Amino acid sequence: MPADVYPPQEDSQLLIDVATQSGTLPDACVADLCTGSGVVGVAAAAAGARSVRAFDVCPHAVRAAKANAAVAGADVAVHLGPWTRAAEFGPFDVVLSNPPYVPDFDDEREQIPPTAGPPLSYNAGFDGRSILDPLCQTVPELLAPGGVFFLVHSEFSGVDRSMQQLRAAGLSTDVVVRRSIPFGPVMTARAAWLERVRLLEPGRRTEEIVVIRADKP
Ligand SMILES: C[S@@+](CC[C@H](N)C(=O)[O-])C[C@H]1O[C@@H](n2cnc3c(N)ncnc32)[C@H](O)[C@@H]1O
Repeated sequence: MPADVYPPQEDSQLLIDVATQSGTLPDACVADLCTGSGVVGVAAAAAGARSVRAFDVCPHAVRAAKANAAVAGADVAVHLGPWTRAAEFGPFDVVLSNPPYVPDFDDEREQIPPTAGPPLSYNAGFDGRSILDPLCQTVPELLAPGGVFFLVHSEFSGVDRSMQQLRAAGLSTDVVVRRSIPFGPVMTARAAWLERVRLLEPGRRTEEIVVIRADKP
C-alpha cells in the first residue's frame, strides 16, 4: 500500500465482515464512501454486488483503489471527489463507510508514523465528527427504499450521536458489532490529550470500534 493511502486496518475488516455476513450485498447496487485503498468496495464486489461505486477526495487513494480493484478483477467504479458525490449516482441498496473519525486537537508537535496513513484519512475535527455529522444526517437520501447503511467508527467519536442522527433522518438503527482493540499509532499519540480532556480514563489504551447498521423503511 502506498504510504499516502490508508492501509486497511481492523475497522476496515470489521465493516467488511459485517456487510458480507449480512446477506445484503448479492445483486445490490453499492456505494463505498471514503474508499481509501478500495478494500471495502472490492469486498462488496467479491460478495456479489451488482454494481459498486467508490468515492474518495484523495487522488492517491483513487489511484490505489482503481489499481487494487483491477488486481482483484473487481468491477468497481472509483470516483475522485467527496462522498456527497454519491448523490449523482444513487439511490443505492447498500451504502458502506469507514470515514475519518479520530478526534483531532491540531498539535504540531504530534508524532504519528506515516504507516498510519495520511492525516486526511483519520483526522475528523475536535470531536471526530466532521464527516460523521453530515454523513449520518443525509445518508438516507442516498438509500433506496429498503436500503441499508453500514458505518464503522470508534466509541470516541460519538456512537449515540450517530444513532440519534440516523434515527432522526428516518432510519432504524442497531449497533451490530462492538470490538475492543488496542490503540493504533494515532490514538496512542493522542492518549495524553484525551486523558487531559477526560475523554479517556487514565492509563486505558484500548478503544471499542462499532459497526452501526441503519435500515431505510
Ligand atoms: C479511514 S480511511 C478508510 C479507507 C477504507 N475505506 C478502509 O476502510 O480501509 C478514510 C478515507 O476517507 C477519505 N476522505 C476524507 N474525507 C473525505 C470526504 N469528504 N469524502 C470522501 N472521502 C474522504 C480519505 O482520503 C481516506 O481515504
